[in-house]
Amino acid sequence: MDTKVIKINEGQENMDMLVEAAGVLREGGLVVFPTETVYGLGANALNNNAVKGIFEAKGRPSDNPLIVHIHSIEQLESLTSDVNDIAKAAIKAFWPGPLTLIFNKKEEVSNLVTAGLNTVAVRMPKHNVALSLLRIANVPVAAPSANISGKPSPTQAIHVIQDLSGKVEYIIDGGSCDVGLESTVLDTTLTPPVILRPGGISLEQLQEVLGEVAIDPALAKRQVIGGITSDPSIEDNDITPRAPGMKYKHYSPEAEVTVVEGQTDKVIQFINNKINEYKNQNKKVGVLASTENIDFYKDAVVVSYGSKNNPELIAASLFDCLREFDNKKVDIVFAEAVGTEGIGFAIMNRMNKAAGYKIIKV
Ligand code: TXA
Ligand code: MG
Repeated sequence: MDTKVIKINEGQENMDMLVEAAGVLREGGLVVFPTETVYGLGANALNNNAVKGIFEAKGRPSDNPLIVHIHSIEQLESLTSDVNDIAKAAIKAFWPGPLTLIFNKKEEVSNLVTAGLNTVAVRMPKHNVALSLLRIANVPVAAPSANISGKPSPTQAIHVIQDLSGKVEYIIDGGSCDVGLESTVLDTTLTPPVILRPGGISLEQLQEVLGEVAIDPALAKRQVIGGITSDPSIEDNDITPRAPGMKYKHYSPEAEVTVVEGQTDKVIQFINNKINEYKNQNKKVGVLASTENIDFYKDAVVVSYGSKNNPELIAASLFDCLREFDNKKVDIVFAEAVGTEGIGFAIMNRMNKAAGYKIIKV
């Protein structure tokens, strides 16, 4: 299939093109659109064939449910009749924005979208192009991140073009995504509400508005792994994450990734030792480092995710950095860990997943 790439900047929406893309989306086509988190691969959630197309284009396992994107609260009412006080408070504070809420679903919501679960994930994105597209199409839109399953999520149109050219009708290029990591997924059907995936809205922000907020045990356990190289198979068999998508290896470049945690000088020393070790084996080593540290690494492909003092920027650049290692064809990557406060929780969740939970504490 021919993929049309159209450039639409926020604030200068070219309505003719957007109307055309929205029509195709409504009639069952696949349309990639920018959001504030990552690019989404959209299909009309009311059209089962269109939804099937998402799973085919991404190579996504069919047991991994999709997030439904909406532009208005009226649309939410077509998906659930169960919006409790916690959910109402979360909507008031964070929608539109990078927060996905899980609700008990209405009968009519397709089992293909929810992968057979009796709950549905819903989000209202904070991006003018996305909201205009959703408004014009005027159907709920199922949209996972617009990457091939397993790869880092796309934060620029070029990432989508690499992954999905020829597999979708439209790619709307809206420039770089501001947040750069996916939305936080919060299950509001449980008391207290539970974070199933850390993301653009932090635990601290949720606690401030909602009071007590729990973390899916599968996630918390994974986040505190340390001490020694962890065995990913033990982690996976131990506790099943409540968000099906969280159990898959994900976000990975072709190269094997190892996360290194600890005091800065020790991290630098450890990674330099590894660079030498692998150089002797004729392996091309990549290092994912903060700008403060890049000059300490020699004889490696060093990619900087930004300053340790600006975690928001690290979040925004992480996926692009991971893809950069593929472009540079490195064999093995060592990544400097960051703190887990605020957005750091989500950054480290994605970095650890990219590493298949291979984490070394020095
Ligand atoms: O920021 C985002 O959320 C992006 C943009 C495009 O909106 N979308 C996104 O979708 O990241 P996706 O499909 O890549 O990730 C959705 C996650 C998966 O981990 C999935 O298992 C989980 O949400 N999920 C969806 N529906 C669920 C449900 N009913 N119960 C539990 N987890 C659910
Ligand atoms: Mg995804």
